[in-house]
Order: sequence, then structure tokens, then C-alpha cells
Amino acid sequence: MSNAIRPLAAGNWKMNGVTASLAEIKAIAEAAATEAGGADVLICPPATLISAARAAAGGKIAIGGQDCHAKPSGAHTGDISAEQLKDAGASHVIVGHSERRADHGESDEAVRAKAEAALRAGLTAIVCVGETHLQREAGQTLTVVGRQLSGSLPHGATAQNLVVAYEPVWAIGTGLTPTPADVAEVHGFIRHELVDLMPGEGAKVRILYGGSVKPSNAAELMAVGNVNGALVGGASLTAKDFMGIASVYK
Ligand code: PGA
Repeated sequence: MSNAIRPLAAGNWKMNGVTASLAEIKAIAEAAATEAGGADVLICPPATLISAARAAAGGKIAIGGQDCHAKPSGAHTGDISAEQLKDAGASHVIVGHSERRADHGESDEAVRAKAEAALRAGLTAIVCVGETHLQREAGQTLTVVGRQLSGSLPHGATAQNLVVAYEPVWAIGTGLTPTPADVAEVHGFIRHELVDLMPGEGAKVRILYGGSVKPSNAAELMAVGNVNGALVGGASLTAKDFMGIASVYK
């Protein structure tokens, strides 16, 4: 079943990148068709660069945001709405990343509201879920991920406007990764839940793995069942590293 799903190689630049970094986006865009032609490619730079990144990408790769407010506009100093991201040239937005859940106390309910805002604005929502190290040690991984899914998935989503990213918190930026068997277990569980929560659509929703994906481990991780692409942090900041991952889908 997952063979029929077109994979997505996505980069999350987090709070990294200035104007000079657009050269990396240009290089990724130029390499995408020949080196990763079997996947869709997306880079989510900081919001300050979305518009320029869109121009640098020249339509060859997609550009996304990293968070959005639940409301379309209003008195929310410093926040950015899904509509504004769309207007700046984004086609996707990451919501519920563990760094936002931790740094900004975002609840499942808040994440769902953001994901629904993304859909309202015509963006694809990339909803992140994942357990902490303590939760894994306590054998709570599937319970936690199941609760995050049922609490944060937007109502009315389809396989076109929803992507789920499984990112174990302890694997993000640490160089640690779960074993392929552990990834298979969680992705299989997420698929099962998606089929349950989204009849007719859940079987086709892309499930990305994220957390210390590197050129050296990408092939192994991307080969796991129900892994339909990667959400890459640190290794997405240079075209060389990111294409070393995305080229799994050559
Ligand atoms: P990492 O981050 O690839 O640097 O571990 C992944 C993410 O947080 O999306």
C-alpha cells in the first residue's frame, strides 16, 4: 500500500538561515528533479525567508512554514497566520513540532486548531507527533503517539492536505535514531490509527520519519514499511547533506 504513496523529502530549517542561505535552496531546487525525482521536495525556512525562498526555488520545490496561528488575522503580536504564510508563497506548514510543544506549551488541542487553520488557508498541514525518552523507557510510546494523533489531527483532512511526521523527541538533534524495527512498529501503528480516524483517506496519508536523519542512515530508515519520506532538521541546512538524503528517492 505504501508503495503507491509518493514520498516527501522535507527540510525544517528551524531558527536558522539568512538571506545568504537562499543559495542552498536554489541548489536543492536545481538538483531535485534529477537527484530526487521520485519524491516531492519541500523546504521550510524561517518565515522571514519564505517569499525569497519561493523565488529561489523557481517552482521546482515547495516552500513551507514552521508554525502558524489558529486565527486568520488579528491582535496577536509576533504571530503569523496560515493565510499569511500562503500569501508569502508557502504550500505547507509544520504544526505541533516538539520544540513548539515544549517551548510554547502547545497542547494537542492548540495543534489541532493550527492544523485546521492550515487547511482553511489551503495549506498542507504537517502534524508532528513523538514520544520523549522517558515515555519510551516507560513503554508508553504508542499510547502517547495515539493520544497526540487523536488530539491534534485536523477534522476534515484528506491525504492531500495532511502529512503526519513521527519524530521521537529524543532523536531530534541528538544523532540518536530508533532501530528500523522500532520505526516500523510506530509507523505501522500510526497507519492503523489513520485508517481508523480517516476512513478512505488514512491509508494514503504520508507518514514521515524525523529525528537525526542523515545521508548515512537515510536509505535504511526510508526503506521501513509505512515510512513515506523524511522530515530533516540539521541535515537540511546544506544542499549537499539534504540531497544526500533526498537522493534515496532518485
Ligand atoms: P534533526 O531535526 O534532523 O536535526 O534531528 C528533525 C526535526 O526536528 O524536524
